[in-house]
Amino acid sequence: MRPDGLIAEYGGGTTTMKLNIAVLPGDGVGPEVTREAVRVLRAVAEHCGYDFRFEESPIGGGASVNFGSPFPPQSRERCLASDAVLLGAVGGPQFDTLSAELRPEAGLLALRYCLGCFANLRPAIAYESIADCSPLRRERILGTNIMMVRELLGGLYFSEPRALDAASKSAWNTMRYSEEEIERVARVAFKLAEGRAKKLVSVDKANVLETSRLWRQVVTRVATEFPAVSLEHALVDSFAMNVITNPTRYDVVLTENLFGDILSDETSVIAGSLGMLPSASIGGKVDLYEPIHGSAPDIAGKGIANPIGAIGSAAMLLRYSAKLPVEADCVEAAIEAALKSGMRTADLLPPAERAKASSTEQIGKRIAELTVEALKSRAAHSAV
Ligand code: IPM
Ligand code: MN
Repeated sequence: MRPDGLIAEYGGGTTTMKLNIAVLPGDGVGPEVTREAVRVLRAVAEHCGYDFRFEESPIGGGASVNFGSPFPPQSRERCLASDAVLLGAVGGPQFDTLSAELRPEAGLLALRYCLGCFANLRPAIAYESIADCSPLRRERILGTNIMMVRELLGGLYFSEPRALDAASKSAWNTMRYSEEEIERVARVAFKLAEGRAKKLVSVDKANVLETSRLWRQVVTRVATEFPAVSLEHALVDSFAMNVITNPTRYDVVLTENLFGDILSDETSVIAGSLGMLPSASIGGKVDLYEPIHGSAPDIAGKGIANPIGAIGSAAMLLRYSAKLPVEADCVEAAIEAALKSGMRTADLLPPAERAKASSTEQIGKRIAELTVEALKSRAAHSAV
């Protein structure tokens, strides 16, 4: 793993690390995948002697149905009082008839907003052992290691005015960005780039949108604070094509909220499955960790969902909230080792081979074991 410019120096395990983690399993496959992420975190805590506490709270469509809000006040208080939030997924067709305020997605957006985490990190790595899971040619994707930084609290998702207006038979949304909103997320991306390959591409639509022209100006200005990092600007339409044809060309990618939402689903194709991608939303009062995938209602409750996105998010929690980069590296190494050993959830197998798939729990347990093995071998190594 390359050093990461965002992490403070690792202090070693001299004091007992205590962490209160708010767990929001949510809807669909959310509870299944977060269970495995918690399993891996518990294994780390037990092995290293850390005190990690987990408290579950409702969010999403289930919370709307049972508590009258997709992000009830008690969940909000729990999250704000915690050291980190681990979320599964929200949504499902059974909630489509709910009013806008009760929709599961409204709960997730309220959570992100109340925590204030404005920088959403979405890494996409093409692991060699599952390179054939991508419809893209192996030689094109091998070596891909993209860190997408998506602005999370601005743009079309949050700007006013917005309305669905029956009277005028029309609807509108607003894309608004302030210099300050652009600056703060750009700094996160540049800092990350400093600790990685020192190149950053900023994605916008500056040939059409004023918000993008401001974005470009501000990012260019922030770049002067980071002389070691080379900056390239790209237009979102051609970037969408280039990232899939030549993904190894990119390292840190910085973009606004909606573009980042779309482009990160696209980069998951390089990683082999939407179920693979983790995320960390940082910069706020409390940081939030969630896989980028949705609630996958078609496979919910079957125990077959891919927990790797959720477990990878737990690794990011260790890195950014717990400041335990060694432990984070060990979880990521365990993910890679589990895949290398041939373990696959159904999403990583062609339809004819799905009978051989491992369950969500089997993969979670194996990654927990392999994490402990990786921790032991690190300890043995550093003792020499
Ligand atoms: C994501 C999701 C969310 C988003 C939805 C569920 C609100 O698609 O995290 O990418 O659009 O941000
Ligand atoms: Mn999305």
